[in-house]
Amino acid sequence: MNDVGSKNRRRDEQGTSLQMSPEQMLELANKTAELLVERVKNLPEMTVWEGEFRPVLEEQLLEDPPENGRPAEEVIEQTVRNILPVALRLDHPRCFGFIPSAPTWPGVLADFMVAGYNVNQGFWLTASGPSELELVVIEWFRNWLGYPKGAGGLLTSGGSAASLDAFVAAREAAGHPERPSVYMSVQSHSAQIRSARIVGVRQNSIRLIPTDRHYRINLDALAKAVAEDRAAGFRPIVVSANAGTSSCGAIDPLEALADYCQDEKIWLHVDAAYGGFSIITNEGRELLQGIERADSIGLDAHKWLFQPYEVGCLMVKDLGTLERVFSVRHDILQDTIWGADYPNFSDRGIQLSRSVRALKIWMSIQTFGMAAFVRAVSQGLNLAKRAEKFIEDSSILQMLTPAMLGIVCFRVEPADKVFDEESLEQINKDVLSRIFWGDRAFVSSTSLNGQFTLRMCIINYNTTWKDVHETLTVIVEYGKEAVHQFCSR
Ligand SMILES: Cc1ncc(COP(=O)(O)O)c(C=O)c1O
Repeated sequence: MNDVGSKNRRRDEQGTSLQMSPEQMLELANKTAELLVERVKNLPEMTVWEGEFRPVLEEQLLEDPPENGRPAEEVIEQTVRNILPVALRLDHPRCFGFIPSAPTWPGVLADFMVAGYNVNQGFWLTASGPSELELVVIEWFRNWLGYPKGAGGLLTSGGSAASLDAFVAAREAAGHPERPSVYMSVQSHSAQIRSARIVGVRQNSIRLIPTDRHYRINLDALAKAVAEDRAAGFRPIVVSANAGTSSCGAIDPLEALADYCQDEKIWLHVDAAYGGFSIITNEGRELLQGIERADSIGLDAHKWLFQPYEVGCLMVKDLGTLERVFSVRHDILQDTIWGADYPNFSDRGIQLSRSVRALKIWMSIQTFGMAAFVRAVSQGLNLAKRAEKFIEDSSILQMLTPAMLGIVCFRVEPADKVFDEESLEQINKDVLSRIFWGDRAFVSSTSLNGQFTLRMCIINYNTTWKDVHETLTVIVEYGKEAVHQFCSR
């Protein structure tokens, strides 16, 4: 046995043990905790993004698994040197790209504890405490959404899994038709399209409906597409509405869609993965009015409920619609059937073995209280409005959509000069690349009606107005440089 190996493991007689001594376990856990806390402490001073080209990383990491181990401290050090930091820091206060995710510390600890306890929460029998906790958290969500008693759901790996489970339920509720079709706006998230494909809808039956000028689904166009499809022998199985598009935060007209889907007997799913948890604020509740009429709702707690990846949620108005399709009996699992009062979460979605996702939500809400969460979400909504005001007051920036659910879409477009669309796109791409390589903030882009758009998503509870202001000031500075360079070509 080599020295290093013996330090790491308390080997049994055959030398096959994967155990560690309690002292060593504690020492490593403390070291890991210290590294993580240090990271959180230093985050505002770090760059927002770190990335590397593949050959460099392969040089550092690509190797056969070692036959003999090495000190665990060394492994952890390599992890925090070469692996985990080489990434976008989505919880950095000046990360405004894509959809930032800033987990609470109790949420992080919950995931650590869940891994340590290693509970399989597929069944009541294997995990009654954790199953009850998931019921509790789902009940909180049910109340926030205004869903009726009896509605319920499950926690998923994220918004994609939530919509996939929803589309399966919708397909079955429609009688699993031969020629299914689904409807969503052109602004819908690619996860919705993927879900439709997975449940067997052909690409040309995934109808992407145009939007109005506020990027909300056009109801007349939807009705026309449905009528045409029915006449051609298709069976519409789901309309997937947006409660916060990831591009610009647009919310489809939920009440009108609920009326329409009720009349047409089509399942209404609401993809609220981005905007859903704004419902804990008064403003969000007003914006999302009508969401409670949907047959299903997808949410993402690893976005605006400040949880570590991976936790999303699917809520359905009628739990039976999930259980009828996902519950499949198997002899080896016959002991797990305890009856209707003792749900097996594996009967509600695609996962059999499941982790305890509810713990992070429960622990962080227990620790800080709902008032703190409401303040944190409201802060994002308000900072986006302040950013909008800054942009409107600037002579070089133009808003492209009003601030909505914490998102601002805008571009560099000097008030005193006229550029065609192509030139504006080039200038703004130049600005984006300056931000990207400038290390002071991270902003990403999107496309609205074919217009290249800078986009800031401001939902991190650690982000202050100073962070937003600094970032916008940098964008103005880069914008001036990019315009100057473009004009002097
Ligand atoms: C509106 C919307 N729907 C669905 C998804 C997919 O969710 P996830 O990445 O958690 O699978 C996202 C992710 O950003 C989203 O913003």
